[in-house]
Amino acid sequence: MRPSELISENAIAERVAALGAALSAEYRDAARPPLLVCVLKGGFVFLADLVRAIDVEVEVDFIGVSSYGAATSSSGEVRVTKDLEHAMEGRDVVIVEDIVDTGLTLAFLVDSFRRRGARSVRVVALLDKRGRRRVDVPVDFVGFEIGNRFVVGYGLDADERYRHLPYVGVLEEDHG
Ligand code: IMP
Repeated sequence: MRPSELISENAIAERVAALGAALSAEYRDAARPPLLVCVLKGGFVFLADLVRAIDVEVEVDFIGVSSYGAATSSSGEVRVTKDLEHAMEGRDVVIVEDIVDTGLTLAFLVDSFRRRGARSVRVVALLDKRGRRRVDVPVDFVGFEIGNRFVVGYGLDADERYRHLPYVGVLEEDHG
């Protein structure tokens, strides 16, 4: 079944270009290139497009996380499945997220990077389900705010399917 389109490939490209310009402006005079940390797996398509829309030097790293019971537990246990290669000490870090839902994953990452000595931690997310937030965590740069729908495509999956779609879509069963 082909998910129906919610955000088109063109609309995504336009927003990613704007986000890239905003990040370039933010870090234009930085003493050291910011470290973009892509949150796997969902962030990989967004990161790939975003770095090409940025015209200042950046470094890139990847972190893998899986959240257990994020939807049902308030503790939001988050487990690191693949850790960073770079040291965080003194770095300006930009977390690159596909989507912020409850905020539990992001809150865990921001806290963890601060404790590891990052100089600053900012967040860029392609999609923001603000209405679902359970912890207050600032998202500095947002692509699109969306409602309470389960979305796939552009890196996002449903049981590992649909990550390759160039657009963001919803599954037909989701009448949310
Ligand atoms: P949070 O910790 O509840 O904010 O969840 C964030 C993570 O849940 C994202 O990085 C995604 O991996 C996953 N997620 C949340 N909403 C969706 C969705 O609508 N489609 C696909 N994955 C989602």
